[in-house]
Order: sequence, then C-alpha cells, then structure tokens
Amino acid sequence: MRNIAVFTAVTIALLYAAGRAHASSPTAHDVGREKFVKCASCHGADGRSTVVPQYPKIAGQSAAYTINALKAYREGRRLGTYAAMMSEVARTLSDEDIVALAAYVESLENR
Ligand code: HEC
Repeated sequence: MRNIAVFTAVTIALLYAAGRAHASSPTAHDVGREKFVKCASCHGADGRSTVVPQYPKIAGQSAAYTINALKAYREGRRLGTYAAMMSEVARTLSDEDIVALAAYVESLENR
C-alpha cells in the first residue's frame, strides 16, 4: 500500500513538472536534448559511453567548439574515415539544430 502511495506521489510530481516544461517555450538546451537522440547511438545517451573506442567522448565540450566541429563536418572541412560518418549526420542539421545540440552537449557531465 505504501508503495502505491509513493508511486502516485512521484507520478503526480512528474506530470506537474512535464506540464510546467510545456507551459514555457523550450530553450536551446531542451531542443538539443530531443535532437541528441540521433547522436546517442554512437556517442552514448550521456555523451561519453561510446559504442566503439574510436568514437570521441563529447560530453561537457564547450558549445563554441561543438558548433565549429559540426559545421566543419557538415561542410566537409573535416576529413577521414571517421569524419565521413559525422559528415553524414551533420549534413542533416540546420544552424539552429547545431546551436541547440551544442548547448545540450555542453551541459552534459564529462566525468
Ligand atoms: C554513426 C555514428 C555517429 C553518430 C550518429 C554521431 N556521431 Fe559524432 N562522431 C562520430 C565519430 C566516429 C566521430 C569522430 C570523427 C573524426 O574522427 O573526426 C564524431 C565526432 C563528433 C564531434 C567532434 C568531437 C571532437 O572532439 O572533435 C562532435 C562534436 C560530434 N561528433 C557530435 C555529434 C552530434 C551532436 C551528433 C548527433 C547530431 C553526432 N555526433 C552523431 C560518430 C557519430
């Protein structure tokens, strides 16, 4: 019985938080979190548990660096076997997507 009460309280708290999040317009960070879904398959949901050792950990990287890196991949200015994988991804991103993703990546813990 106690578990049900706790579950209900947590559910109500989460619904309340979700409702509040939608009430205000989303920040770049929020938009970036949603878009990061397509990055997580290689960089990990936390930006640092990479599937393959050759994939870089990006969590906590400064937004300015990430913006620059993503634009370089998109425009084919970073070359190489692994860069080609990123170019495929970056090609689908708008400038706004890149700014949002960079804000989210910077917010991830890098420990
Ligand atoms: C298919 C796997 C894959 C996906 C999906 C992917 N990445 Fe990458 N990413 C890589 C690899 C591999 C590299 C290293 C490329 C190189 O050697 O330049 C990389 C490099 C990067 C770098 C540069 C890191 C550095 O230290 O210079 C950033 C930033 C980055 N990715 C962000 C993203 C973001 C944001 C997304 C989602 C939009 C994403 N990646 C999706 C595989 C992936």
